[in-house]
Amino acid sequence: MTVTLSQLDSKKNEPTDKEIKSFLNGIGRIDSNFDGNILKPYLHHNNKDIRLLAIKNIGKMKNIGYLNTAKSIYDKDPSSTVRRECVSTIGRMKSEEIIPILIKILDDNDPKIVLQAIRGLLPFKNREIVKIALENIKNHPNEIIQEVVNIETSPPKRTNKNHVEVRDFLQNVVVNGDVREVLKLIPEDSIHLSFTSPPYYNARDYSIYKSYQKYLNFLSEVFKDLYRVTKEGRFFILNTSPVIVPRAGRKYSSKRYGIPFDIHSRLVDMGWEFVDDIIWLKPEGSAKNRIGGFVQHRKPLAYKPNIVTEYLMVYRKNTGRLIDWNIKQYDKESVESSRILGEYDHTNVWEINPDYDDVHPAIFPEELCDKVIKYYSYKKDLVFDPFSGSGTLAKSALKLGRYFFLSEIQEKYFNRIKERLKELPLDKIKKPKFVDLNQFKGEIHD
Ligand SMILES: C[S@@+](CC[C@H](N)C(=O)[O-])C[C@H]1O[C@@H](n2cnc3c(N)ncnc32)[C@H](O)[C@@H]1O
Repeated sequence: MTVTLSQLDSKKNEPTDKEIKSFLNGIGRIDSNFDGNILKPYLHHNNKDIRLLAIKNIGKMKNIGYLNTAKSIYDKDPSSTVRRECVSTIGRMKSEEIIPILIKILDDNDPKIVLQAIRGLLPFKNREIVKIALENIKNHPNEIIQEVVNIETSPPKRTNKNHVEVRDFLQNVVVNGDVREVLKLIPEDSIHLSFTSPPYYNARDYSIYKSYQKYLNFLSEVFKDLYRVTKEGRFFILNTSPVIVPRAGRKYSSKRYGIPFDIHSRLVDMGWEFVDDIIWLKPEGSAKNRIGGFVQHRKPLAYKPNIVTEYLMVYRKNTGRLIDWNIKQYDKESVESSRILGEYDHTNVWEINPDYDDVHPAIFPEELCDKVIKYYSYKKDLVFDPFSGSGTLAKSALKLGRYFFLSEIQEKYFNRIKERLKELPLDKIKKPKFVDLNQFKGEIHD
């Protein structure tokens, strides 16, 4: 039950913190007749939650008469949460007098407080003094502040590009060629979603590189151009896991390469915004036995668990726009028909059995592609796999009403894609095209 002011006053003993908090929480809406002096003693209470509630209630009054009170608590309070609430209280006063104070607060060391001061200044952003102050922090060391100031001072340009459109010559096409050459032929702003499992460093015949740095450079080249061709604010999901390169002899140790971790900062530097890490969990029986030695000797330091996970790293092409903007580009019918009804994954751990193929040694399970396509694209979108192997992504895409675009360097896998897609009922969809790089060049028009 809420404690009222008269109950607090009538107490013989000092009220407990719990009682004070109950009173402050119960105040609710405050009108202009409210006597703020009741709150002032609590601004100096030694419990920070009580100070926070007191300043929050003062904020509700939106009364410029409390400017000095809020400013002096901001100056002295040791708690960053309370100080930030003071800045919010000042912002809510929405009077000219707060402008110089909030501009000074832009120098605060705590980015949360600076962001709050920016919010308070935004109603005045057309005033010259505020324009200059925001311009001055455009290159603030904190990345979130930089982003907010950029959005507020130069809002995203209106685009006349059609976000939903899929270029005709990219619809349901498989190109037999090096993805680096294929990407050069794709115009920017073409792809809605990419999902791929790249060749793992020196783990298979099709993935031999002179050095790990050269391997990472190769992936970076592909993912940089992928960024260019991806539509604004759309997703790229990268499936990798650390790989082990066996030892060169009994005298040497094997080497484990943390591919997802090493490529991550390169992707972020290119502009890919990190969104999520999803763990693909496989049954223990599907893992190579690494724990065998330990089972025998049980010696610390020589522990090597069986690996039953891979990563799906989720990135989004950087944009000043929210996901809502992307969704709003679709008509009602597309949104309705693409909604994920029924079962869905509640966590970032997806338990899926691996799949095998007679021709390709490392294929995606179709269930994995289905989930990625459903969660990260809309019907009639274009989904792309730059390292498409046996073409599992295309199978899922067709089943789920999306267009696909694939590239694969090896002819034997390119032929395998043809075979696998033939198994599908293709009468209602645009017939897949299988082309080499030169034929693809001939198809391009814009
Ligand atoms: C891990 S596999 C992908 C398997 C695929 N996810 C599937 O479901 O079958 C990687 C593929 O990338 C191909 N690849 C390697 N380098 C390439 C390049 N430069 N351009 C296009 N494909 C390449 C390999 O031939 C291999 O089939």
